[in-house]
Order: sequence, then structure tokens, then C-alpha cells
Amino acid sequence: MKAILVKQPGGPEQLELGEYEQPLPNSNELLVRVHATALNRADTLQREGKYPPPKGASPLLGLEMAGEVVEAGINCSRFKKGDKVFGLLPGGGYAEYAIISEAMAMPVPAHLSMEEATAIPEVFLTAYQALVWLGRLQAGEHVLVHAGASGVGTAAIQLARALNAEVLVTASEHKLQACLDLGANKAINYKDVSFDDAVLAHTNSEGVDVIVDFIGGPYFKKNLDCLRTDGRLVMLATLGGGKIDELDLRKILAKRLQVIGSTLRSRSREYQVKLTEEMSAFALPLFESGDIKPVVDSVFDWKDVAEAHRYMEQNKNIGKIVLRVG
Ligand SMILES: NC(=O)c1ccc[n+]([C@@H]2O[C@H](COP(=O)([O-])OP(=O)(O)OC[C@H]3O[C@@H](n4cnc5c(N)ncnc54)[C@H](OP(=O)(O)O)[C@@H]3O)[C@@H](O)[C@H]2O)c1
Repeated sequence: MKAILVKQPGGPEQLELGEYEQPLPNSNELLVRVHATALNRADTLQREGKYPPPKGASPLLGLEMAGEVVEAGINCSRFKKGDKVFGLLPGGGYAEYAIISEAMAMPVPAHLSMEEATAIPEVFLTAYQALVWLGRLQAGEHVLVHAGASGVGTAAIQLARALNAEVLVTASEHKLQACLDLGANKAINYKDVSFDDAVLAHTNSEGVDVIVDFIGGPYFKKNLDCLRTDGRLVMLATLGGGKIDELDLRKILAKRLQVIGSTLRSRSREYQVKLTEEMSAFALPLFESGDIKPVVDSVFDWKDVAEAHRYMEQNKNIGKIVLRVG
């Protein structure tokens, strides 16, 4: 089959369309003809050789896909040949064919294209896990979503609004309106103002209940400052750096704060299956009704995968960058 290969660890120029062995499904798996896959930051790290795939996973890039079932293992009961499915993968999405455990597959909502469906799994599963499981966000609470226009950010805004929370975001100036259009109540240009001041001004100096953070080091102290008592800080990435110089730990004690870190890819299969079941029970009806939507920034032909990686690394996207496969 055709697949995107990494010639040797390095920059986007190392990506090329080549030939790779087609995978075979076991009795609980589906073999899917991939129509679309989507980019994740993890792909750029894996391309550079800094993020090896978990044991047993395909070494090919690609953490999600949408496509058509071409073969279902004998123990599969929910999907059959010809069904349109999408879902999270441990790897292998940048290929003509991919294997997905049936338990991880979701049906493509009726009115969504393959390009839209593939924009859902990684970011909506991550956002659901961060808001509901880790952040324990409740209706009426305030949540601050950093990088609100990122893939995960655009999913988090919509899920948090669906949970009836008040949503504040940070983003670059030209991305603020997109966040407001998705339902954010307050969008802060973090390059113009100190986001903690803006959060405290918006919340009568009380702060927010939950923060979803991807920036890390440079934001950590400010995050603690704008959490209210019993607040939860969910840390998903360290795009701005992983170190802090000095920290007064007493803030964490005094406000009874919780700092929670997570990576989705390292979670057990059982955890990912449960998360997929719970997120899809909550969100698929909302996708069907159009109350929430996958946010597709752009669609690249997979022959232009290097250009797509460069585009992501330049922080240009609002929502997901999709690759059309084959
Ligand atoms: N832990 C997990 O389970 C998990 C799961 C999925 C993704 N992630 C991670 O979450 C992060 C977001 O993923 P994504 O796919 O949603 O990203 P994305 O769509 O590529 O968006 C990232 C955005 O973050 C902002 N940003 C980047 N560097 C920044 C910095 N130094 N300071 C402030 N803002 C910065 C930029 O937006 P602005 O222009 O608005 O600044 C950028 O467009 C990635 O690091 C990804 O690896 C973690």
C-alpha cells in the first residue's frame, strides 16, 4: 500500500510518499481504507525522532483517520464492510489502509465528510478527558482554555459550552473572533495583555475553576494566580517550555489547587476505549444535530504533507489540518 514515510529523523522535507506493508486485522479489528487523516503536534515530534510510537503500534505517522471498512475481524459485531468509521489510532493513519480496534471506532455522523470526521478524534477525546474526567468541570463553572484556536482548544470551547460552563480563552489576535464564534464568552489576546489580569478582571477577581493549558513553564505561575479556591489546572503540553525558575508552593496549598498532567497516547487501551465510548455518547448526538462541529482549518493532499507540517509548525492553523489520502 502507499504510505507517508520518514526518510530519516528530521524536518518536513524528510516526509515522502512511498510503499509500506499493508496491515492485517485480528479478530477484533477493522481494516479501513483511509480517506482522510489529520495532523497532530505529536506527528512533528515523531518525525524528528523525539516521540517513538508506543510498543506494538504502527511506526507510521498518524493518530486518527476516517475511512471505509474493507474487512471486519470475525469477532466484530458493530461494524461491517462498507461502513464509514473514524477514530483514534496508536499510529499508522498516514497510509492507504489502517487497522483500528472495533472498540475504538465510531460511526461517521450522517452529514459529516471524511475530512470533517477525521478532525474529531484526537482533539475531542483530549478535550473531553481534560474537561470532564480530569478537570471535573461543572455547569456554571468558569474554564480558561489556553491556545483556544488550537485543535484541542476549538474542541474544548465547544464541549465546555455544551456542559454549560463559562469559557475564557487565550489566542493570537487574528484567532480571537474564531474562538468567540465557537462560543467562547471572553477571548484574550495574550500577546497584548497579561492573561491573568484579564481573567481576574472578567471574573470579579475570583478566577476560574479549571484551566486547560498547553504552554507550560511561562504560564505556570500566572495560571496559579488566576485559579480560584479548589481550582484544577490540567496540563497537556509544554509548548512554551517545561521549566520554571522559582515558585511559591504555598499558593497551591492556600487555594487547595490541583495540578494534573496527562498524555492520551500513553493511556491503556481500556482507558482509551472507555473515553471513546463516553465522549461519543455525549458528543455524537451534538455533531448530528449540528450543535458542535469539527473545526477544519485546511485540507492538504497527502502528497503535500511536508507543506502541511510546515504550516502547523508556523502556528498558522485555527482548528485541524487534514490530509486527504490516496
Ligand atoms: N497531553 C495530551 O493528551 C495531548 C493530546 C493532544 C494534543 N496535545 C498537545 O496539545 C498541544 C496543542 O495541540 P493541538 O493539536 O491542538 O495544537 P495546534 O492546533 O497545533 O495549535 C497550537 C497553538 O498553540 C499556540 N502556541 C504555540 N506555541 C505557543 C507558545 N509558546 N505560547 C503561547 N501559545 C503558543 C498557537 O496558537 P496562537 O497563535 O493562538 O498562539 C498554536 O497555533 C500540542 O502541544 C499537542 O502535542 C496533548
